[in-house]
Amino acid sequence: MNWNLLYKRAYIPYSERPAACVVESKNGHFYAGVRIENVSYPITIPAVQSACAICLSEGEIPAGLYIENREFDQLDFWVKEFNLKVHEVESPPIENTEDLFHPADNNFNTLPKLKSLLTKAVTPNSDFPVSAMLFTNDGYFEGVNIEVSDWTKGLCAERVVIAKAITAGITEFEKLEIHTKKGEISSPCGACRQVIAEFLPYHEIKLHHAEGTLSEHLSIDLLPFNFKSASLKKQG
Ligand code: THU
Repeated sequence: MNWNLLYKRAYIPYSERPAACVVESKNGHFYAGVRIENVSYPITIPAVQSACAICLSEGEIPAGLYIENREFDQLDFWVKEFNLKVHEVESPPIENTEDLFHPADNNFNTLPKLKSLLTKAVTPNSDFPVSAMLFTNDGYFEGVNIEVSDWTKGLCAERVVIAKAITAGITEFEKLEIHTKKGEISSPCGACRQVIAEFLPYHEIKLHHAEGTLSEHLSIDLLPFNFKSASLKKQG
């Protein structure tokens, strides 16, 4: 494994400045994270947030951070939040990061899986677990929402699962399914809709509502007339 390999997975069409890092969990597992930009710049997921959120969503606690240099958005916050031991290294200390892709036939019954996934959500602030499954044509990634001491630095289940797939180098998707057990309906928030619009612009979104019903939508219908622009200044 080398940094360039991970940097190539970063989604950075607006800055053209790649960022990637690797988090080591308390149990010694490694979770990569890449920078995932959005056409609406403030919704961008920095690499360290991505790696920590992925680690947390797998039921693990971040303990160490491997980076090439210190030029990372949110670095100080995440280092302090988990008391991370920071290692500046020439290459990531691993052959591979955890393989978080689940090969599967797309037509299986997803609700039991979405329900069991809810137990992995990290929701000390809201006690409102959300689960998400993001499908390619031959399998899926799992996501849950994660919360930390700063409310603004947690991530919704939808964005965690997108971060996981993009970090794994997967960019072609079929559909996204989400579930919440509380509240009347399960429905992605506005920020997630903008991120969904970027990666799954005309895709199927299945919402498994708390009261047992299912509704199916096209992402374009969930955020019609979403923000787009080809005339943003690049930072590269
Ligand atoms: N949440 C999601 O995971 N997805 C959504 O689309 C709505 C909100 C989470 C974020 C936070 O952890 C909790 O629900 C309350 O906002």
